[in-house]
Amino acid sequence: MTPLLIRGGRLVDPAAALDSLCDVRLRDGVVVEVGPALAAARGEEVLSAAGALVAPGFIDMHVHLRSPGFPEKETIATGTEAAVRGGFTAVACMPNTRPALDDPAVLRALAEEIARHARCRVYPVAAITRGREGAVACDFPALAASGAVAFSDDGDTVRAERVMREAAGLARDLAQPFIAHCEPEESIVARDLAIAGEARKAWHIAHVSTRGALDRLRAARARGVPVTCEVTPHHLTFTRALAAELGAAAAVHPPLRDEDDRQALVHAVRDGTIDAFASDHAPHTAPEKLGSGGPPAPGFSGLEVAVGAYAAAVPDLPVMRFVRLLSTDPARILGIRGGSLQPGDPADVTIFAERAWTVDPANFASKGKCTPFSGRTLPRKVIATIVGGVIAYRAPEWAA
Ligand code: DOR
Repeated sequence: MTPLLIRGGRLVDPAAALDSLCDVRLRDGVVVEVGPALAAARGEEVLSAAGALVAPGFIDMHVHLRSPGFPEKETIATGTEAAVRGGFTAVACMPNTRPALDDPAVLRALAEEIARHARCRVYPVAAITRGREGAVACDFPALAASGAVAFSDDGDTVRAERVMREAAGLARDLAQPFIAHCEPEESIVARDLAIAGEARKAWHIAHVSTRGALDRLRAARARGVPVTCEVTPHHLTFTRALAAELGAAAAVHPPLRDEDDRQALVHAVRDGTIDAFASDHAPHTAPEKLGSGGPPAPGFSGLEVAVGAYAAAVPDLPVMRFVRLLSTDPARILGIRGGSLQPGDPADVTIFAERAWTVDPANFASKGKCTPFSGRTLPRKVIATIVGGVIAYRAPEWAA
């Protein structure tokens, strides 16, 4: 592995409260030195980050990689190539696969596939209930021992309150949080926050999309409930008006809401209520999105637009908070390494620039080409993505 010196960039490291012109030296998969004007050592590759921002690698804590079971939608190879092009050095993948990620043997097989094909780090989220059927809680200690970083039936809500309460009790002593998919949103958020408060279980609300859900979350936090939450780029940007324009292609769970909700979400990013940006990357085939032979498949490919889309949605957000929402805080919520670029930290780095670009899904590495951001010009662009000290992606215009 060639040692790397990232030179001339503006380093933004929330974990160290650092925002200054700083070089970063990477060797053997870790950060070895951070400081102004470092001299290149013999044998080191120098990567110029002049005019760009250098951040701890971005982590998307909510993606669907569709493995095992749905290679026509996405594979570990295509989904993680989409991730590195989008600036992500790590993703957490959801368990609505076939079979579901509900058993250590399934996690072991997935880990082998990740080891062979992944272009970035992949952390599995295991199911809360067997088969994601909402009836029988999984064996959480066994799944945690097999690498699960969280538990979720994402894609579906655990409808039976008794099952959710029992699951929370069984998982309460594990560090892995529950990630809740809440539909109908406000009543399930209220129910889950009550259970989280009783069980003192770390709870993360996925893809928050309404003002009412945010109000309940703030109130629960004020009571000391250990709850975090995320927001997607599409809920921060679009409203149900898009469905009138795009029809089936705008289908997503939870659905796009009203302008009042959208504004509440943007405000919640600014005021710190939101803990993480997460794309809910949900690729489907074109016929599935159009609903041939059934209802339209919900969701959009998000990894390759997320960084630009968040910048467009909350343009006045300080860049330190932008990086924290994409890196430091998702790492903390999932209890994984990353989110910091100090000596000894993993050599996972995202380099990005204030540079406008236009979304063309035909260029996506993801197999899913549906995005409501198609044709939009976004203000922030990923320049390079470094995973474990290796350049996994470099924008063509930055390759020189
Ligand atoms: O729109 C969505 N698509 N929301 C989800 O929660 C699941 C996801 C999927 O897996 O397609």
